[in-house]
Amino acid sequence: MTEQDFILKDYKSNSKNGRVKWESPSNIALVKYWGKRENQIPENPSISFTLSNCKTITEVTYTKKEGSDFSFDVIFEGEKNEAFKPKIQTFFERVEIYVPFIRDYHFKIETSNTFPHSSGIASSASGMSALALCLMSIEEELGANYSEEYFNQKASFLARLGSGSACRSVEGELVVWGNTKSISDSSDLFGIKFSENIHPNFQNYQDAILLVDKGEKQVSSTVGHKLMFGHPFAQKRFEQAHDNLAELKEVLVSGDYKRFIEIVESEALTLHAMMMTSMPYFILMKPNTLQIINKIWEFRKQTGSNICFTLDAGANVHVLFPDAEQEKVYEFIKSDLVAYCQNGHYICDKVGKGAQKS
Ligand code: DP6
Repeated sequence: MTEQDFILKDYKSNSKNGRVKWESPSNIALVKYWGKRENQIPENPSISFTLSNCKTITEVTYTKKEGSDFSFDVIFEGEKNEAFKPKIQTFFERVEIYVPFIRDYHFKIETSNTFPHSSGIASSASGMSALALCLMSIEEELGANYSEEYFNQKASFLARLGSGSACRSVEGELVVWGNTKSISDSSDLFGIKFSENIHPNFQNYQDAILLVDKGEKQVSSTVGHKLMFGHPFAQKRFEQAHDNLAELKEVLVSGDYKRFIEIVESEALTLHAMMMTSMPYFILMKPNTLQIINKIWEFRKQTGSNICFTLDAGANVHVLFPDAEQEKVYEFIKSDLVAYCQNGHYICDKVGKGAQKS
C-alpha cells in the first residue's frame, strides 16, 4: 500500500448530515517508537499491547456547511475545549487530501476519556485513533464501501498522521508499526495486527499503571522525537529496535518470559537513556520511578514472578504481568508500590482487542 491508496477517489459533495461514535483504547509499547521523519514516518519499528480499560470515547456530529474552511468544535468531558483545537487543526491539515469531505462539513467533536485527564496518561493515541475511526465511518456514510481490512488500515493511516502511536490503537491485541524485515506486510504508513499465534503465557496480559507523576508531560512527544536528530547513538538505537522486534516476535510465540522481560525492560531504559544523552538532555523518571523499579526487581528475585515494567516518556510505571499472577501481583502492588504513587493512584488495565464502534 502507498499513500495514494488512501486518497478517497470520486468524492462528490452530498448533503447528508449524521453522527458517528467510536471508542478507542490506549496502547503500551514493548519496543518503543522514538524518532520520526517528515510526515510522521517512524525512524524505527515498534510493537505494542493494545489496552482495554484506558479509552477515549468520541462522538462526531457532522453537518453540511457553506465555504471551504475547516470548521469544528471540541467538547471535552461536557465542556467546550479550546486547548485541543490546534492539534485537531493540524490533524485536519495533514489528512484532508485523504478525506476531502472534511472541508464540506462542520464537525461537533464530543470526546471523553475513561481515565482521569490529569493522570499523566497520554490521551493522544486513544484520542487520535477514535477521531480517525469517526472520519472513516463518516466516509462510509457518505457512500464509500470498504472491506474491514482496508477500513482498519486507512483508520490507522489517518490516526498515525494525528499521533504516531495512535496508529497502534485501532486493533488488538498486539500491533506492529514500521517496516521491518522480520514482520511481513509491516508498514511505516499504518499499524498491522501481529498475526502470529500468541503463546497462552502472553494472552490476557495485565498492565497496572502506577501514577507516579500526574502532571503535564515535561517533554512533549514533538520535542522528544526531535531529540533523535543528530543524536550520537540514534543509528545504533534504530538498528536495535529492529533486532528487538525480531526477537520479541519469537518470544511472543514461544512463551519465553525471561527474554520478554529482558527485551521489554531494556527498551524502556533505552528510551530514557536516549533522552538523558540527547542535547538538550532530560531525566523524565522521578525518584519514585526508580524506587518502584527496584522493588519490582527485588520481588521478581524473591518470588520467581514474571512481573516486569515498562515506561513511556514520563515518570509513570506500567507494571506488566501474566494473567495467572494477578492475585499475587496486585497484593504486592498494594503492599509495596502504592506508597510511591501520587495520592496512591494506579489504574488496572490489561490487553484488549482494539477500538469499537458504538
Ligand atoms: C514514548 O505517538 O506521542 O510513547 O507521533 O509525535 O504524536 P507523535 O508521538 P507519540 O510518541 C510516543 C512515544 C512513546 C513510545 C511509543 O508509544 O512507542
